[in-house]
Amino acid sequence: MVAHDLLAVHHLTVTVSVAGQTKTLLDDAHLGVPALSITALVGGSGSGKTTMGLAILRLLPLGLVVTRGRILFAGKELFGISSKDMRLIRGKDIGMVFQEPLQAFNPVFSVGYQIEEVLRFHSFLNASQRREKVLHLLEIVGLPDPKRVVRYYPHQLSGGMRQRAMIAQAIAVNPQLIIADEPTSNLDVSLQARIIDLFRHLKDQLKLSIILITHDLGMVAHMADRVVVMREGKVVEAGATKTVLANPQHPYTQALLEAV
Ligand SMILES: Nc1ncnc2c1ncn2[C@@H]1O[C@H](COP(=O)(O)OP(=O)(O)OP(=O)(O)O)[C@@H](O)[C@H]1O
Ligand SMILES: [Mg+2]
Repeated sequence: MVAHDLLAVHHLTVTVSVAGQTKTLLDDAHLGVPALSITALVGGSGSGKTTMGLAILRLLPLGLVVTRGRILFAGKELFGISSKDMRLIRGKDIGMVFQEPLQAFNPVFSVGYQIEEVLRFHSFLNASQRREKVLHLLEIVGLPDPKRVVRYYPHQLSGGMRQRAMIAQAIAVNPQLIIADEPTSNLDVSLQARIIDLFRHLKDQLKLSIILITHDLGMVAHMADRVVVMREGKVVEAGATKTVLANPQHPYTQALLEAV
């Protein structure tokens, strides 16, 4: 972890009480995300990857408690700020992309309306500027015929189109960081590759940093600058992707790599 990391998570510990027992979901976890980088967060199911993402955004489900740790974003202590200010950071400075876009979109509003809502909340654009911007965003993420797609309801889009629409929403107000949790695992292989290419393109074009949560080590090798390996709530290894993949230090990382 270095001083100029865009995001720095220190000693993050998250617990939950289940039937009177305290379970530790994140255990003294550290994460550093350099500016303009793609950092992959990998690890088996239940290792705490999603919990890490949600904790950064202060979106942990009820019952999960941060018992220790600091989160610094662009030098600012996130735990020190109010829920109101955190709402401003979410969406504006840090965007989110989830595995299943149907959960992120409300079924009763058009996709265009929901992307525009982000602009209404986080920008000073007027109505016609917002409409222009939404069309432009749909174009950036490679959706065909934005003028038509803008009126579609979430269920009218294919899985790949929905994923692109969610990315359009996440980048709407030029965030510095995107947290993408298994953004392609519901898509078929050829679509996965295209979404990955889109992320790489957006990273360069929009000067983004991305935390990519994934099981897919092929995807990590292909696009991540850094990789952070989690196991049972702990970060067991972190480093430059090339180094970690070529010469894994931790037995768990070695096992992960042998499995592919
Ligand atoms: N609301 C909750 N209440 C109790 N335990 C929870 C809750 N949410 C998550 N957990 C537990 O926290 C641990 C970490 O879960 P998390 O979803 O962060 O893992 P993950 O690495 O994202 O896994 P996956 O790869 O399957 O998505 C798991 O053991 C999970 O059962
Ligand atoms: Mg998860």
